Amino acid sequence: MASTSPSSAKDAPERGVTSSLSYADAAAGPCSTPPATNPEQSIHLLLCALTWGAEIKKTRNDVRKFPDGFLFGTATASYQVEGAWDEDGKSENIWDHMTHTQPCIIKDCSNGDVADDSYHQYERDVEMMRELGLDFYRFSLSWSRILPSGFADKVNEAGVAYYNNLINEMLKYNIEPMITLYHWDLPQRLQDLGGWANPHIVDWFSDYARVAYEQFGDRVKYWITINEPREVCYQGYGANTMAPILDFKGIGEYLCAKNLLVAHAKAYHIYDEEFKPVNGGVIGITLSAYWYEPETDSEADVTAAEEQIQFENLVIFPPVMKEKIAAKSEKQGYPRSRLPEFTPEEIEYVRGSADFFGLNHYTTEIVYRNESVYGIRPVPSYYDDLETGFYQTQNRKMVPWGLYKLLTKIRESYNNPPVFITENGFSTTGGLEDDNRIRYYRGYLSAMLDAVEEGSDVRAYAAWSLMDNFEWMQGYTERFGLYEVDYDCPERTRTPRKSAFVYKEILQTRALSTSTTSPTPTS
Ligand code: FCB
Repeated sequence: MASTSPSSAKDAPERGVTSSLSYADAAAGPCSTPPATNPEQSIHLLLCALTWGAEIKKTRNDVRKFPDGFLFGTATASYQVEGAWDEDGKSENIWDHMTHTQPCIIKDCSNGDVADDSYHQYERDVEMMRELGLDFYRFSLSWSRILPSGFADKVNEAGVAYYNNLINEMLKYNIEPMITLYHWDLPQRLQDLGGWANPHIVDWFSDYARVAYEQFGDRVKYWITINEPREVCYQGYGANTMAPILDFKGIGEYLCAKNLLVAHAKAYHIYDEEFKPVNGGVIGITLSAYWYEPETDSEADVTAAEEQIQFENLVIFPPVMKEKIAAKSEKQGYPRSRLPEFTPEEIEYVRGSADFFGLNHYTTEIVYRNESVYGIRPVPSYYDDLETGFYQTQNRKMVPWGLYKLLTKIRESYNNPPVFITENGFSTTGGLEDDNRIRYYRGYLSAMLDAVEEGSDVRAYAAWSLMDNFEWMQGYTERFGLYEVDYDCPERTRTPRKSAFVYKEILQTRALSTSTTSPTPTS
């Protein structure tokens, strides 16, 4: 396994030069709102943020340090922030297509045509990274901006120039770029050919990956092939909750998953064999993983939770999934399993195809299995195959102990791989006073440290998100940003929230200070 330690990030001399956080100047613009916080207030905010937590698993009155070399960042994705949807040669992707043909499929009838206008505001974006003192910034490439036909016949120089500008601006301040090749915005032309359900996508994706390595690999040392296979395939192909809303239940998601995994593996091998020896760098895939807690300690609930973890999160195509789907398919009259087989060669090809485990984690759900879960879902479908019931915990989205349990499971069941937490975050409906977000970050970072102290090899953490952005089907109604974005303003003015000050403080001190708490599993 290649080293996943950063070389230059730790030594960044100029990072965080705007240490006094003069956001008022930075945010100045015709539509800017004055920041509600100032540096003095941040100390007060920090203290307020420490007083949370009615149910406490551990209380520590010491300063909890993050490990040496630990990397902090934030994350975004191309369609969610870039805008400029048809500028400089970019072609239509599946989100452009869906939102233009069915505008009110999005909660607020919005789209990402302009989004945060990062295509034009990238210097401000990097300035915010410096304000926060980030070690790295995770962003994704828009496939249809780089290869407008979808294929690697012609590289769009203007699209490449945008990413070069962004990367070079970040590197000026020793902020490491972390690139996701695919964060959900497939060129529409490839969707017209079946998208991830077409096995030829293995070649289309790996050709695109090669172009990206060639263009940016000299400067970019952290690569993620695909963001969240489960969301791409289940939500886009097996349901109608993400583009391309195919809703081809019980079949589409599984075809997609197989092709996606092989495509990932091919992109991994190209990097590993041709680029890593020259450029160094590491490459992995990012999975979305909730923690699934059994409702009771009955065997049925415990088995259900374990199966849900395996189906949804950690092992792609685990034996339990293969057996269940094969048996159901037969009963349903299909001549073969709806879950496509991997050949032995494909299994070997995919095995070990990641230098690190990219983990997106947001929350925890409670899982059960009893008579009520049978026969209530469409047949066939992913959740009919899984046969569980699940719901959010009382604390809804704020369940830090779930992250602790998940990291422990990854350490114990998968031979303690290096983990990069590539997304973790909390949404509000807007406003600068985001005490709940602060509470969330502090709780989750503390839970992460609990796992690290027990041996989990977590090396990086990215807050989702640097700033508010187009939150897929929720449009701009759900806000995840450390910075608030003013969508009434053409400049999309960015203003730091309280949480931005707290995150900056954590990054500066490399510690969570004084009483840090983790709620109990029963909370
Ligand atoms: C993740 C996505 C990311 C963002 C967050 C809130 O599943 O990867 O783009 O939407 O959820």
